[in-house]
Amino acid sequence: MALRLDFTNMIAAGAASRSGSGESRAITPAEWAEAVAAFPKVHAAVEDERARGTLGFFDLPGDKGLHEQVTRFAREAAGKYTDVVVLGIGGSALGPIALRTSLRPSGWNALDAKGRGGQPALHVLDNVDPITMAALLERLDLRKTLFITISKSGGTAETMAQYLIVRDRLRSELGEGGKKQLVFVTDPVKGALRAIANSDSVPALEIPSNVGGRFSVLTPVGLLPAALMGVDTSAMLAGAGDMAARCAKPDPSSNPAAAFALLQWLGDTRHGLNTQVLMPYADSLRDFAAWFVQLWAESLGKIRPDGTSVGPTPLPAVGATDQHSQVQLFMEGPFDKVITFVRVERFEEDVPIPTPDPSSAPLPPDLAYLPGHSLGELLNAEYEATSAALAEMGRMSCTLHLPELTAETVGEAIMFYQLATGYAGAWYGIDPFDQPGVELGKRLTYAAMGRPGYEAKPKPAGPADEA
Ligand code: PA5
Repeated sequence: MALRLDFTNMIAAGAASRSGSGESRAITPAEWAEAVAAFPKVHAAVEDERARGTLGFFDLPGDKGLHEQVTRFAREAAGKYTDVVVLGIGGSALGPIALRTSLRPSGWNALDAKGRGGQPALHVLDNVDPITMAALLERLDLRKTLFITISKSGGTAETMAQYLIVRDRLRSELGEGGKKQLVFVTDPVKGALRAIANSDSVPALEIPSNVGGRFSVLTPVGLLPAALMGVDTSAMLAGAGDMAARCAKPDPSSNPAAAFALLQWLGDTRHGLNTQVLMPYADSLRDFAAWFVQLWAESLGKIRPDGTSVGPTPLPAVGATDQHSQVQLFMEGPFDKVITFVRVERFEEDVPIPTPDPSSAPLPPDLAYLPGHSLGELLNAEYEATSAALAEMGRMSCTLHLPELTAETVGEAIMFYQLATGYAGAWYGIDPFDQPGVELGKRLTYAAMGRPGYEAKPKPAGPADEA
């Protein structure tokens, strides 16, 4: 069984059966039919881009050579390390983080979980906070640590600063041999990191030049850390390949990524639902939601050729935790949100809620309903209840059903969202694969740090700007 998208609670037929008292809004059958009829053009535009060779992420599931780079390195590294540290940011960090939490039992991710289960603990430094960096370096045994520096451009200030600190630390503690603790993941030809790999003989795996940062989790960016943690990367690529094959059709009724993109775009542009929540009912998908947020925000928040700004705001949430936090806002706050739940049908492990020992005091009657059930049952009952309650209030939601959390289903989900992002970009009439809006900030940072050629300093804050 594969990933399934249920969008009953987004279209008018679903809305009509609701009995709630709240304001009700839904995508009408006419809107849906019109968009479905227009979709072949969107599909063709995306396929044209793909044929031009610009959308490399499509072809990653079948790229055996690239996968072989990963499996060879992981085979040779087996048993050598207690810790693996990823240095990267944005698309070069969020994918590895999402894979770590989706596919490794949570206890194995703790900072002090050195070498548990025979595999190294994975740390991802996705910021330049000096406290985090210092604390991690302090506790690592450098001889048993592999540092993976990941940067598509090979020049990102945050990642390069991390790398220079690590390189210096390795040199001062381990001498020239410290270089053996390094591997890079970067562009095959371009960038400073590739140049260092060549001059210093550091092994460097490739990010194909036609795969952008936030679309790179199925390259060595995500696959190398995953393989080092013992994740079945072949199964992940197979799942992604299955999803790409399912989405080959220009018909949203049988192409789930197309249906998702279409519904979210209609919700935003026709019904004002410009906040799009991803709410998995599983702790292990919390970081997957953060990965989605970057993919959706950095890809779709753009200025169109006609000068108008577009882009939905993605918002992460986690069930059941957020039922005691953001769900009140989703239920009764402004009607500007659409929720996508992720439901995991079967948990790898479940924990029964025990019936108290007959020798102990009986439970208060208010709690007697809990024993005999399990935490997995409770979590899924909470999902059903929240989804039904939102529908009662006339609020739109859809659900991604995952049969279980495996490398294969996570691969499917990754490809599902990447394809949906490509389709959504075409609906919005923007290029989802660039990020011009972050360039100004980068240039001003370079100026502030004294990089030659970027001398124009950011305007200093005047008294009126200071709190
Ligand atoms: O999606 C993107 O392109 C960005 O988020 C990048 O991943 C991020 O800026 C890091 O870039 P790089 O991998 O070049 O260091």
